Amino acid sequence: MIAAARPRAVTSRRAPDIHARPHMPVDKDTFRATLGRFASGITIVTAVDADGRDHGMTVSAFTSLSLEPPLVLTCIARNASVFAALTAATHIGINILAADQEPLSRRFASRDGDRFDGVGYVRGDTGVALLADALANLECRVLERHDGGDHVILVAQVEHAQVREGQPILYYRGGYASLAR
Ligand SMILES: Cc1cc2nc3c(=O)[nH]c(=O)nc-3n(C[C@H](O)[C@H](O)[C@H](O)COP(=O)(O)O)c2cc1C
Repeated sequence: MIAAARPRAVTSRRAPDIHARPHMPVDKDTFRATLGRFASGITIVTAVDADGRDHGMTVSAFTSLSLEPPLVLTCIARNASVFAALTAATHIGINILAADQEPLSRRFASRDGDRFDGVGYVRGDTGVALLADALANLECRVLERHDGGDHVILVAQVEHAQVREGQPILYYRGGYASLAR
């Protein structure tokens, strides 16, 4: 006699809710210490507001996202003074800093004074400020804005890009670093 096949249990797996309380929360110090092991470059993200004023901020949360189409993403803290300007803009400039641009990184992360005061830049085709002597300048159209906890993730399409030779500045374990090669 052939036994009837037993119906297999059907399990449904729902996508995890990233806003739910984590099952095993990691404390802030552990989170920082762990993520600090991931070395990154440093960018300054710029945008122009409706009144034509330039805004900019130091951002290390930047990555390449897609080749076709050419997409990048960058993450902007909700409590940043320039949050509204950067996340409302139709276009952003992304300036990848060179090894000797630590002062620019500090300046665009500080609340003291006008960040653009005395800084060399040209205006790109899309109107954004492109900082002088950066390793690369990108002009991007913002396509999507996603909730990302205490940050907003901007997904943007690269419309123009230019590079120059040089060494990058790095951010590692909460401090500035350089390539040892
Ligand atoms: C090296 C470095 C990397 C940073 N990366 C980011 C980032 O990826 N996203 C972000 O929102 N802020 C980042 N910040 C912080 C902002 O630059 C900084 O909080 C902000 O400009 C200062 O606060 P305010 O804009 O509110 O005046 C970074 C700062 C530094 C120095």
